[in-house]
Amino acid sequence: MTDATKTATISIGGKTQELPIMQGTIGPDVVDIAKLYGESKVFTFDPGFTSTAACKSAITYIDGDEGILLYRGYPIEQLAMEGDFLESSYLLYYGELPTPAQRKKFVHDITHHTMIHEQMVLFFRGFRRDAHPMAVMVAMVGALSAFYHDSTDINDPRQREIASHRMIAKLPTIAAMTYKYHVGQPFVYPQNHLSYAENFLHMCFAVPCEEYKVNPVLAKAMDRIFTLHADHEQNASTSTVRLAGSSGANPFACIAAGIACLWGPAHGGANEAALKMLEEIGTVDKIPVFIEKVKDKSSNVRLMGFGHRVYKNYDPRAKILQASAHEVFEALGKQDDPLLDVARELERIALSDPYFIDRKLYPNVDFYSGIILRALGFPTSMFTVLFALARTVGWISQWKEMIEDPSQRIGRPRQLYVGPTKRDYVPMGKR
Ligand code: CMC
Repeated sequence: MTDATKTATISIGGKTQELPIMQGTIGPDVVDIAKLYGESKVFTFDPGFTSTAACKSAITYIDGDEGILLYRGYPIEQLAMEGDFLESSYLLYYGELPTPAQRKKFVHDITHHTMIHEQMVLFFRGFRRDAHPMAVMVAMVGALSAFYHDSTDINDPRQREIASHRMIAKLPTIAAMTYKYHVGQPFVYPQNHLSYAENFLHMCFAVPCEEYKVNPVLAKAMDRIFTLHADHEQNASTSTVRLAGSSGANPFACIAAGIACLWGPAHGGANEAALKMLEEIGTVDKIPVFIEKVKDKSSNVRLMGFGHRVYKNYDPRAKILQASAHEVFEALGKQDDPLLDVARELERIALSDPYFIDRKLYPNVDFYSGIILRALGFPTSMFTVLFALARTVGWISQWKEMIEDPSQRIGRPRQLYVGPTKRDYVPMGKR
């Protein structure tokens, strides 16, 4: 809301303009610059959006200095430890925790949308087996819009809801099939009697020739990873989904755009990069040399899984995953895995080194998630796929919020033009 008692004054070339200040429920106030260009003929310049709120949102709140993450007001620690992923999904999408009856219906609706059109199954066969699973995901999720025409009318609230349910339900199936195709095993179809996380692990790791029983500790860890990754405010991929959606594109296409953005190593690809880094370091005695390389700016080496644009404190998700990693390794009888030792020691050294302290670089969600996913049996190439699966509910909730906002307009940033000024075309013979 706008606080009429507070305004910001900007003076440009002797002309003064009053800018309204908006207040959220928590978090920094926002200077409303929407009329700045109209009256003062200047744009603002903020590449990387470090000081720019791109939208209003009531979904997720982050206090990066304090290390706080809330979904609809509820602390992530409580949701991850006491609830489960589908409950958080309901919360993110509808705004409140479900009643028992609402939960039952939601779980039923999601469970009964898990199969994908059989024609889509044939699509997989067009890919090379060595294609990166994220390349397959971008294509398969985009392809949903070619199969589910009855839920692409963004102006129909019921179609929006069905498309959203379909994506929350089908992403695990698509992700598991992507994995099976990658490793050359037959697809395993969803099982409706299993929970969301159990069903996913079953589709990934069951094979037709053997019975596969899902370990409940591993299913819980998987579910927790999904909950922790479900939403994270206006990050790069969420902003991509919103920008794609602002043009009126269908929700399947928007989520495919989000997946493409998530793929990058500075965003969702970091868990893959973090694990590769741990594997490259290999043993605890190699850590000091690696840390020196990270601190040497000419090396361009970063400590992957450390640092965050918003968190200047311990990422609350990393804390939960650190504990989860221990549970998983214990359940698998792998407490002495050297990778876990390297991660713990790397964290200890980095947290006491002035380079990292001065820059407020702490472990982020990707530091421990890769170790857990590897222990669960996933190859590194699947890590970002799992992130995409979990983030789908956040993306779709943010997309829905945007579409339902009556003030929504197409997103159209401006620029500071630094190219040549107007000049005449030179014919080929005179160049
Ligand atoms: N290792 C070493 N130095 C770092 C790191 C790191 N991981 N991260 C930042 N720095 C240094 C950087 O060199 C710079 O130093 P100086 O001031 O001397 O030039 C300073 O810290 C500020 O860095 P920045 O690049 O301006 O910070 P940013 O907010 O643009 O970058 C980040 C945030 C996440 C891209 C970055 O910290 C990074 O590259 N981390 C490693 C990749 C990673 O783990 N990404 C996952 C993010 S969490 C999951 C998600 O949201 O997708």
